Amino acid sequence: MIERIGNTVCLTGRDISYIMFTNENGDLLHFHFGKKIKSMDYSRMTDEWHEEWGYATNQFPLDVYPQEYPSYGLTDLRNPAYSVLNSDNNNLSMLCVKDFIIHKGQAYQINGLPCLFSAKSPCDTLEVILYDEVTCLEVRLFYTVFDEYNVIARSAAIVNRSEHNIKLLSAYSASLDLPVGEYDMIHFAGSWGRERELARTPIKIGMKAEIENARGGSGHQLNPFVMISSVDADEEKGEVYGFSLIYSGNHSSVAKSDQFRGLRVQQGINPNGFECVLGKDEEFYTPQCVICYSSSGFGAISREYHDLFRNNLMRSKWTHMNRPLLLNNWEGTYFNFTEEKLLDMAARAKELGLDLFVLDDGWFGKRNDDKSSLGDWTVNKDKLPSGLSGLADKINKLGLKFGIWIEPEMISPDSELYRAHPDWAVHVRGREPVEIRNQLILDLSRDDVCEYVINAVKNILSNANIEYVKWDMNRQMTDIPCAGYNHRYTLGVYRVMSEITSMFPDVLFEGCSAGGGRFDAGILAYMPQIWASDNSDAVSRLKIQYSTSIPYPVYSISSHVTASPNHQCGRITSLKTRAASAYMGTFGYELDVTKLTDDEITQIKEQISFDRRIQTLVREGDLYRILSPYDTNFSVSEIVSKDRRKALLTACKVLTAGQEKNARIKLRNLNTDKQYKDVVSGKIYRGDLLMYRGIMLNYDACDFASVVMLLEQTD
Ligand code: GLA
Repeated sequence: MIERIGNTVCLTGRDISYIMFTNENGDLLHFHFGKKIKSMDYSRMTDEWHEEWGYATNQFPLDVYPQEYPSYGLTDLRNPAYSVLNSDNNNLSMLCVKDFIIHKGQAYQINGLPCLFSAKSPCDTLEVILYDEVTCLEVRLFYTVFDEYNVIARSAAIVNRSEHNIKLLSAYSASLDLPVGEYDMIHFAGSWGRERELARTPIKIGMKAEIENARGGSGHQLNPFVMISSVDADEEKGEVYGFSLIYSGNHSSVAKSDQFRGLRVQQGINPNGFECVLGKDEEFYTPQCVICYSSSGFGAISREYHDLFRNNLMRSKWTHMNRPLLLNNWEGTYFNFTEEKLLDMAARAKELGLDLFVLDDGWFGKRNDDKSSLGDWTVNKDKLPSGLSGLADKINKLGLKFGIWIEPEMISPDSELYRAHPDWAVHVRGREPVEIRNQLILDLSRDDVCEYVINAVKNILSNANIEYVKWDMNRQMTDIPCAGYNHRYTLGVYRVMSEITSMFPDVLFEGCSAGGGRFDAGILAYMPQIWASDNSDAVSRLKIQYSTSIPYPVYSISSHVTASPNHQCGRITSLKTRAASAYMGTFGYELDVTKLTDDEITQIKEQISFDRRIQTLVREGDLYRILSPYDTNFSVSEIVSKDRRKALLTACKVLTAGQEKNARIKLRNLNTDKQYKDVVSGKIYRGDLLMYRGIMLNYDACDFASVVMLLEQTD
């Protein structure tokens, strides 16, 4: 709900209020974002404001005032929300409010960029029009608020109303000034095989904490999601502000403490390497940033984002459907397969009870290693004599669906496509482009290249019964042809993804980028699941999946049981623990199933039927992280159904110790006066005992042990 009372506008979500107002100079000031304020005496607002900031500072007021979208160079010398180079070579501007427009019942949509949509959720959008009389710069701010969520989705449009060209040097999607206080920043750092490692940093007075990524995609190294919290915040208490950018290109999240310990937080496209020239009446739209508030810790932030993303971001029809349980051949064969081998694996997958066989890299061109053929999307008949459609038919006859891997944004220098169109690779004229994994990136800022990619994928998917696609992107971006290029490329990626996923609405798409290098809300808008990491080791995955689950829904995290010793880190783990770790995501297998022992076959059959029992719960339930693998020797999480009748508990112990007594685990959010049966052990417990006294989890006496419970209410 959005209300305007005089110069004040109040946006109200489920338990939150976001209040801004215009002062006598026309400045757009920020008054409150936090717990809901049900009724306010707006006539007192100016007095309260001056009591807080003091009249003495009025000479230089904007430098201390909390603002909505601060300008640079006049009366606020903190970080601006945007920056322009005017035609006379200075960076100044000063925005004043021209108008507030309330778009009732609408979630704001940005052309070419993924955004939250309203679906059945009541929501409204506020548009604030700001204008600088001297430079004729117009800025429009958009704020969408949903009645049932504690989020505000923000974005901005920068419009040049002058006669001259201007250069936009930065434009954050949102800028939020938080009150004087002590704050921590929580972000995800990492690398290939170690994605989204949780990091927490106190932001001391005057300090700037910034995570910025300029690698082309959202990246393995830093994710476009941060939380700013009170220093006492944990999973269940404390004030937390989440910032999730719906964007898959270069990004930046900055928090800078000012002279009074107020904190200015900004998120958007990374200004480093960005610029956009705007001619008369040309406009630039930022991606959307979803800000979420919780007064009860990180867990509440997660549950909020999970519901919001599942219901109001992810467009695939698969979002609310259980996904086929799959076998992917990658770690089982890598490039070394024949049709016969694949069919053997598929036949065994069927016997085990799986639904889908996925053929990974190596099926096209002359690709027997990673040195060639990206761009040549024609089947390698030496390996697959009956082609993709013949193979799909054979796999379908076994009673399985068939899926494939593609990497459509790429081009190998050793490919027919490159020989025909060397200029289609991202490059700078006069320089040999840098190869990473022996490949270059297709220039998706060009319409003709986008069209080629759309047609190539359309052709593959139309000519065989392909029901699943793993969409990979295996390198970072170098050889940037011009400033601002990465954004234009990202718009091309979205165009291609949007057209293909709309053309094939029944196909299940999975995002991937050399593992989890592009796990972000932008990709989730098109693809309901994303491969979280090329590190498939069950124990490494505890951390990767734990932090990924903070913003992103558990069921969007693609997670496979692979061979032991693990191929990435050599760790030996039990099949039981590998499954326990993979249950916290979309479940599947990725190993040579023709080599399984009888005991492994029995266990896998049980795991598959168990996963079928928990799929809906993992897909739609509420997540409670109970013990963190970052802080403890354990990783324990619970997912509870919305009606509290079912709960899944997955627990892993990392290292064992002698004669160890573990703390009791207290479950969350059950019906206290009901009984639950643990389907795994057959034991019966009352909800209040599980929640208030807690239970001991009896781990095996070994490293990497696990316990899984599935609690179902008995009446
Ligand atoms: C990437 C993916 C892997 C696999 C390979 C194939 O690394 O993350 O899962 O598909 O590419 O080349």
